[in-house]
Amino acid sequence: MGDIYQEKILVLDFGSQTTQLIARRVREARVYCEIHPCTMSLAEVRDFNPRGIILSGGPASVYADDAPGVDPGVLDLGVPVLGICYGMQVITHLLGGRVARGEKREYGPANLEIKHHRGLFRELEPDQPQPVWMSHGDRIEKMPEGFEVLALTDNSPVAAMGHGQRRVYGVQFHPEVAHTPGGAAMLAAFVLGDCGCSPSWTMRNFAEATVSGFKETLAGKKVLCALSGGVDSSVVALLLHKAIGPNLTSVFVDNGVLRAGEVSEVAGLFREVFGMNLVVVDAADQFLDRLAGVTDPEEKRRIIGHTFIEVFEAEAAKIGAVDYLAQGTLYPDVIESVSFKGPSATIKSHHNVGGLPERMKLKLVEPLRELFKDECREVGRELGLPESIVSRQPFPGPGLAIRIMGEVTRPRLATLRAADAIVQEEMRAAELYTKVWQSFAVLAPVKTVGVMGDERTYEDVIALRIVDSVDAMTADWSRVPYELLARMSSRIINEVAGVNRVVLDISSKPPATIEWE
Ligand code: XMP
Repeated sequence: MGDIYQEKILVLDFGSQTTQLIARRVREARVYCEIHPCTMSLAEVRDFNPRGIILSGGPASVYADDAPGVDPGVLDLGVPVLGICYGMQVITHLLGGRVARGEKREYGPANLEIKHHRGLFRELEPDQPQPVWMSHGDRIEKMPEGFEVLALTDNSPVAAMGHGQRRVYGVQFHPEVAHTPGGAAMLAAFVLGDCGCSPSWTMRNFAEATVSGFKETLAGKKVLCALSGGVDSSVVALLLHKAIGPNLTSVFVDNGVLRAGEVSEVAGLFREVFGMNLVVVDAADQFLDRLAGVTDPEEKRRIIGHTFIEVFEAEAAKIGAVDYLAQGTLYPDVIESVSFKGPSATIKSHHNVGGLPERMKLKLVEPLRELFKDECREVGRELGLPESIVSRQPFPGPGLAIRIMGEVTRPRLATLRAADAIVQEEMRAAELYTKVWQSFAVLAPVKTVGVMGDERTYEDVIALRIVDSVDAMTADWSRVPYELLARMSSRIINEVAGVNRVVLDISSKPPATIEWE
């Protein structure tokens, strides 16, 4: 699809936790790359036709019985190769050098002394030590023939090595992590310099190539898209709308547990501004009737998931025959299913959320399969999606239902919606909305005593949940200014009827989770 996929880098994965970051840094240098397991065959590597290959780190020792390796032929393809940590040891092992078991693991920061300011290091300031991040047990004892030391640290006499003619490099540290500040420049020097790729992977090019590709492949086809108002499904819908216009039908289901103003915002934007063929289904009663009396969190999730599928299928049936279901699968989900998980682990297949495609027997169109989340946001900006959607915080499918402890009723939804709107407003006003991972209100299942004028009150408690995170796997409560908390608290108590107390959630994940249910 277009030229942007012509010059690409292959990242072969040996199971490191930071392999995804390698791909991120390469993409940031505006070069397309893909991650594949190290078990990829030589024929497949040739087919992929990479301009360069990066061998990732990995948890194994090259001496382990079941140590993962690569086909030695990948070093003879005539394209530059960079081995990172375990990847460097694999290169050493394959080319006749010697890897020694380290006496102890070297883990943490080190200062890199660069011997030769060329190749990987050509963009770095000369004569300045470079902080780098180490995490390895084994180390290089003897380099393969023809290699020279490019850089060293106190503990690693061969912290970086290279073979000038073959353009094969190895680094013992991790250039892909944030703790190696010069790492992005090293990876950029490799892909743009040694591999000779042009920096053409831009989201404008991606959007153009995707739209023109769909114009051909989806000509005359009908596509259905579930729009949630989140950034992923919005970008999917816009790309398809640009390509096939009225042959795309987007369906937005109001499940009754959305935030304040969400339905009108989404409908207004996609229908009126973008002129999209959008069906808004008011299914609030259906969802809320089924949620009546339900307090168990898993039961709430189950009911909302099933009801969504039912409502969506009923709408799809009204539309008539469709060929494809559009889905906002992102690259991290794809990597999850192809990454190298070690010799004993089976490779997991990708499960689509909700099971809709299987049930509806539809083929999938997944325009974001190659994109990381921040790339998806950039495509959104290119397509003219407003910042209010592009930089939206994640919002769970079961919506406000899992932020209301206990029963979900219309009055309790109204209370939470009003409080939540104040939290969003104040976070944006303080310019912190996009700096934190999520910020929202939770309605506690208790009432407490308060005093208003001369009156005793007995009313609801709102909790504030504001967290920092990079991937939602772990999180910590955000240290936002007291003044901001004070403003949120006094506004919620004064403006939201039935609330007389506001508390702050100061738990990290783990052991708590981000959402309360
Ligand atoms: P937890 O509460 O598990 O949440 O720490 C991690 C992240 O996932 C979001 N989340 C969901 N997203 N459907 C979704 O689409 C869900 O059922 C769901 N539950 C939690 C949550 O908002 C946080 O960003």
